[in-house]
Amino acid sequence: MAQFKIQGQIPLSGKISVSGAKNAALKAIAASLLSPQPLKITNFPFVHDVRSMLAVLETIGARITRGDHEVTIDTSNVASGNLLDAAARKIRTTTLLIGPLLHRFGEVQMGFPGGCVIGRRPIDIFINGYRALGVQVDEDDGERFIFKGKVTGGEFFFPQVSVTATESLLLAACVGVGRTILKNVAMEPEIPALAEYLSAHNAKISGAGTASIIIEGVPEITAGEYKIIPDRVEAGSFLIMAAAARAELIVENCQPEHLESLLATFDQIGVPYTRRQTSVAVHKNDRTFASANIKTHEYPGFITDLQAPMTVFLTQCQGQSLVHETIFEGRLFYIDLLNRMGANILLCDPHRALVQGPSRLRGKIIDSPDIRAGMAMVIAGLIARGETIIGNIEQIDRGYEALDERLRRIGAEITRV
Ligand code: EPZ
Repeated sequence: MAQFKIQGQIPLSGKISVSGAKNAALKAIAASLLSPQPLKITNFPFVHDVRSMLAVLETIGARITRGDHEVTIDTSNVASGNLLDAAARKIRTTTLLIGPLLHRFGEVQMGFPGGCVIGRRPIDIFINGYRALGVQVDEDDGERFIFKGKVTGGEFFFPQVSVTATESLLLAACVGVGRTILKNVAMEPEIPALAEYLSAHNAKISGAGTASIIIEGVPEITAGEYKIIPDRVEAGSFLIMAAAARAELIVENCQPEHLESLLATFDQIGVPYTRRQTSVAVHKNDRTFASANIKTHEYPGFITDLQAPMTVFLTQCQGQSLVHETIFEGRLFYIDLLNRMGANILLCDPHRALVQGPSRLRGKIIDSPDIRAGMAMVIAGLIARGETIIGNIEQIDRGYEALDERLRRIGAEITRV
């Protein structure tokens, strides 16, 4: 098992460039199934999760050509809607393939999908959404799901906002017949980005990025080139790292307008930064940071994927901060690792934690619980006194490309052992 070895409290400075968004690339890969023409995806992040999704497409017959941060996916040879393969069961974004494969074959079989261990991760909303659009869904003991028939349009109100369920139904409804009205949908930037690409290739979609989306099915979606938007979670993670380490760092090739919830929190805490068109610079300082309460919320609220990194920063802020994770029930379990490093955090319940700060963190030997808590552990290691060893870093590689190389370039003493 690979590990990161980090020496803490080394001054960081310089520039770090943001990769393409993992959670946009995963959906672009699914969109390649909508057309027999090859799809070229650029600004493509070759992180582990994306490689896993490409592997699923290859198991059903897609041909993939890899370049430097780009792929071309030819799905003309895909001959089956059978997603029961182990590779497909491993990842949750297999759910995005159902719609396009249904359009091609009229039947899709899928196992219960995997995903991060940050909560139950049910798929009831997907099932009910497909049924609302006219698809027959049978399941045997919740292990195997069979989707039959074609999307004929309909109306569906999401009982809970769901990012990939929104994208899954968008991909299903955009090709074929009928008018689909989706209500209480997610508004994460990756969704308008996907809708924009599809609309440029014959789809008829309105309202993406708002709470309701209307889709008119069209007979065919063409394919072309899809440039992935910058990864707002990676950008936010680097900004929080710079603030916590009191570094002078420019995070470039990002879209600051996707990070306004984080920047608003920085304003509350008193983090000095300069916002430009495609970059944000955090400034070196020795200010006393004020505490702040964060409550994760669907976009444009505070990003749940930045909750763990932000909690590390809050251990360095003066006073008491409440962290309220409203989206997932299993996304605070890294707190005991931080307390072992010297933080003073009370886990009130699966959704709430009270952080007392500032506290001096000391390096420890710890494991990375999931992608984003893994990045939080890296930030903790960079600001702790002494050496931190982080195990299970495959979790971190799932969401951040060549993280150790990029951090060494801004002065961090981090090695992959
Ligand atoms: C997406 O996950 C992201 N993943 C997650 O990022 C992100 O944390 C999450 O959205 C919230 O922003 C991708 O885009 C690949 P949800 P998703 O469906 O779509 C419940 C990362 O680190 N729910 O919006 O799976 C669910 O349990 C990952 O990059 C149901 O109850 O999240 C959760 O409580 C982690 N039934 C809530 O909805 C369903 O059928 C929101 O989950 C579906 C979801």
